Amino acid sequence: MRDPRRAPHAAAPPEPARVAPRPAPPIAAASILSADFSRLAESLGIVDPSLDWIHCDVMDNHFVPNLTFGPLLVEAARRLSPAFLDVHLMIERPESLARQFREAGADQITVHLEACRDPRAVLEGVRALNTRAGLAVKPGTPLAAALPHLDGLDLLLVMTVEPGFGGQPFMPGMLEKVQAARAWRERNGGRFLIAVDGGIGPGTASAARAAGADVFVAGHAVYAQPDPRAALRALRGAIREA
Ligand code: DX5
Ligand code: ZN
Repeated sequence: MRDPRRAPHAAAPPEPARVAPRPAPPIAAASILSADFSRLAESLGIVDPSLDWIHCDVMDNHFVPNLTFGPLLVEAARRLSPAFLDVHLMIERPESLARQFREAGADQITVHLEACRDPRAVLEGVRALNTRAGLAVKPGTPLAAALPHLDGLDLLLVMTVEPGFGGQPFMPGMLEKVQAARAWRERNGGRFLIAVDGGIGPGTASAARAAGADVFVAGHAVYAQPDPRAALRALRGAIREA
């Protein structure tokens, strides 16, 4: 990977130029946060690129009190799977690393509204990298704060737990935010998909689907199960039946 200190940000064209085709919703997104990183190839192998996304949770121990991985791991995932790589940045100043994640192979880069001083500029910067752009909101952030940024957005990610850790219980109160986002999209148009992230399993995914969500991010309910492949299949079934 290129050392960003050696080349000014504006210099090179974004690489890779490819924008992965996006499966049609509803989409299950397998969050590797709960995967066995010593068997990453096997963990990614359960994902069906025609149906699912791979969700990568990047944490910096500042924006959230936990530390995970950076572009090198995303680059490894990119080599191991052709699936759509959905990168969720839970980091301060996401604009400073977006290009590195794009070059590592991210098909979509989601930043937190709460982590951006100028969300409009950050989202424009992500789009300029020839990748899809997402905006995430923490449970305490009202939808109203995201409304000015929905135009041209590819993903609105509604956190259904406090970001930072896998395996937390789903916050049912967030379904109202999902419903309101769906209603806004129906009224005003917009190509953005609505994702839920945190505490998602077959039961909560059905409820979120009924509320209007399109993308269902699940870590614990997939990778912390005895048979992750069957667990992902069950999640797919739940979001298609709902
Ligand atoms: C949490 C992350 C989630 C996490 C969800 O901050 O954004 O993507 O993997 O994990 P589960 O599905 O275990 O709640
Ligand atoms: Zn996430």
